[in-house]
Amino acid sequence: MSVHANARKVTTHTLQEMKRAGEKITMLTAYDFSLAKLVDRGGVDVILVGDSASNVMAGRDTTVPMSLEHMIYHAQCVERAVDRALIVVDMPFGTYQGNSAIALESAIRIMKESGGHAVKLEGGAEIVESIQRILTAGIPVMGHLGLTPQSIYKFGTYTVRAKEEEEASKLIADAKLLEEAGCFAVVLEKIPAHLAKQVSEALSIPTIGIGAGQNCDGQVLVLHDMLGITTDFSPRFLRRYLDLESKITGAVEQYCEDVRTGDFPNEEESY
Ligand code: KIV
Repeated sequence: MSVHANARKVTTHTLQEMKRAGEKITMLTAYDFSLAKLVDRGGVDVILVGDSASNVMAGRDTTVPMSLEHMIYHAQCVERAVDRALIVVDMPFGTYQGNSAIALESAIRIMKESGGHAVKLEGGAEIVESIQRILTAGIPVMGHLGLTPQSIYKFGTYTVRAKEEEEASKLIADAKLLEEAGCFAVVLEKIPAHLAKQVSEALSIPTIGIGAGQNCDGQVLVLHDMLGITTDFSPRFLRRYLDLESKITGAVEQYCEDVRTGDFPNEEESY
């Protein structure tokens, strides 16, 4: 039986085994109880309580305003729904950069108050001290390199990262540093496919790609994007598996019409 099929509960260890066995890892975001339940039932290996909640749940332009309390709230909702998947919680901007003691305190709050299983931090060498300190408490850490949305004001745009040699070399060095520090996996966001392949081959820990080609050890998408709930965001890497925007607005229009015409509720729907 495959590692994936054998895992009644996915752990960081399961993901390492999947990489060794050449099995692809599946990851999707979730932020609330109802959808997290469906995502877990669908058999995804990792649920990321991403700070992309800032965009898709709160309607903000960036992930920068997310607070620790916001992330803990979303992670608590997800944790109540999930039986199998590994739950990874994003550490929000300002809770781990530049001060490893604050990073540890923030990670401990996430673990104690949300019931999540691991945390994710964006960045390489600049934040490795924070990662090391969090790991001393036995908290598993997922890294995140390439396009790191919390640094949007430094980058200026959401375009593909590490196309040039200098940035690509730094990314490779950062990936190795994260592995040496003890991260159990690393997200590679929006980088050239050949670079993601090189990193995936160089690391013994799994890489999870988003806009990083097919040679990563796993893939992640934002749930609301792949379900077609958000339609104003259409990057090349996004495959939409449903068109929920038109399905939901269609259902709402039908409901309004039924109420207005007196068709709903009918006798069978009444007491
Ligand atoms: O917050 C998020 O959804 C993420 C993914 C895009 C990897 O970090």
